[in-house]
Amino acid sequence: MKNIKAIIFDAYGTLFDVNSATEKCKDKIGDKWEKFSNYWRTTQLEYTWLRSLMGRHKDFWEITEDSLEKSMENFKISHSMKDELLDLYKSLSAFEEVPETLKILKEKNYKLAILSNGTPNLLNGLVSSNKLENLFDDLFSIEEVGIYKPDAKVYEMPTKKYNIKVNEVAFLSANTWDVSGGGNYGFNAIWVNRNKNIFDKLDFKPKHVIKNLKELLNII
Ligand code: LAC
Repeated sequence: MKNIKAIIFDAYGTLFDVNSATEKCKDKIGDKWEKFSNYWRTTQLEYTWLRSLMGRHKDFWEITEDSLEKSMENFKISHSMKDELLDLYKSLSAFEEVPETLKILKEKNYKLAILSNGTPNLLNGLVSSNKLENLFDDLFSIEEVGIYKPDAKVYEMPTKKYNIKVNEVAFLSANTWDVSGGGNYGFNAIWVNRNKNIFDKLDFKPKHVIKNLKELLNII
């Protein structure tokens, strides 16, 4: 990839492990913790798409809480755990290789930014709880445009702010549909496939597939 000026990262699932909140409670939740965590994540994403289509926006924190409530009911998990899980969700752990890789990229003078469904508050909290402050030029939140990914208005934010072309952006996401969304917009879309998943059939193929963020250093 040539002429890349900005490297834009999705947050949830790409930089930060969405299962880490539930994993920390696995002793209390039991063996179903992972299925429960995946169900919570899927419901959360469905609510973002449904609310965007219905024109009934609620911010990502409210959606995270609503989807948690449904998931807890579905998996018969005691309501007393709700606050603990939500608190842990505010400080999800970054994947192991993330801090070091970001530091190397920062030294190479790329614009580095997060582009996420998360609210500004949530994104600031994730960055500071993982000690990643000073590494990002911007934390772009969909709250600025009031609609969720994969609406083009979301992907437009960094190119507008940096006054750069779409093909000067490397966009990384672990979420297949988000890779398609950013790629469809024109970004060099890179899929971080951490778990040997299958890519979507949405008429879009990622420019590169990497297993973790560190592998980006080989292609940039
Ligand atoms: C985000 C979700 C899609 O951070 O992971 O925007």
